[in-house]
Amino acid sequence: MELTKIVESYNYVKSKMNQVPEIGIILGSGLGELADLLEEKIIIKYGDVPNMPTSTVKGHAGQFVSGKLHGKNVIMMQGRFHYYEGNPMELLSLPVYIMEKLGVKKLIVTNAAGGINTSFVPGDLMIINDHINFAFNNPLIGTNDEEIGTRFPDMSNAYDKDLINIAKEVSKGYGIGAKEGVYLMMTGPNYETPAEIRMARILGGDAVGMSTVPEVIAAVHCGIKVLGISCITNMAAGILDKPLNHIEVMETSNMVKDKFKKFVINIVAKM
Ligand code: HPA
Repeated sequence: MELTKIVESYNYVKSKMNQVPEIGIILGSGLGELADLLEEKIIIKYGDVPNMPTSTVKGHAGQFVSGKLHGKNVIMMQGRFHYYEGNPMELLSLPVYIMEKLGVKKLIVTNAAGGINTSFVPGDLMIINDHINFAFNNPLIGTNDEEIGTRFPDMSNAYDKDLINIAKEVSKGYGIGAKEGVYLMMTGPNYETPAEIRMARILGGDAVGMSTVPEVIAAVHCGIKVLGISCITNMAAGILDKPLNHIEVMETSNMVKDKFKKFVINIVAKM
């Protein structure tokens, strides 16, 4: 991503902000309500930010919401961009770089995902401890600007161990019962075939989804610490004898939103 483009987008967002956010939160499908809990809220529509694509998926608003959560300065993305919408993967990194320039040091990335691990049930929350990039594309492909980050980022600790430990503590303390595992990204937009899910399981995936990995790569690239949380909205294809659909995904995320909110708020308090 060209630095000049990032700066142009950042300048616009910065001009609307009244605080320096230290924590960024990207809200996945059906999880956008968390933004309603912010105090001293400021809303910045993606459509008004230079160079930003607009978000198109149902269940995704398209805006940055900044404000205070538990006394901490936070910026949330209510709605995100997906590769399957036709966005060049490079563009998915833009909001992350904007947040970094605004001052974000830690990023919570959330998503709806299908459960591959058969010990999971719909409604579970999973702390992401690693990922597999099965989209076979990368937001960093292209020229690299060393001012943003190194050409060859180290992904050995992409999901920050301290943040994972905080999430585990909160899970215990508040009876969240969060699982932990590996997120595998497929491009979508179709849900996977049962054979693809069997393959994903053999390869070490615990949950499958169509987002998150590009943003996490960009965050690692520019030095932001990441915590990933998947909401298991359904069992992945072929595990249960029933078809998958976006309505079920939205219904489950709606069902678990109170647990999700409690989890994230209390993580933010300890970050
Ligand atoms: N597969 C891919 N993405 C998803 C799923 C799934 O089963 N559920 C929610 N997002």
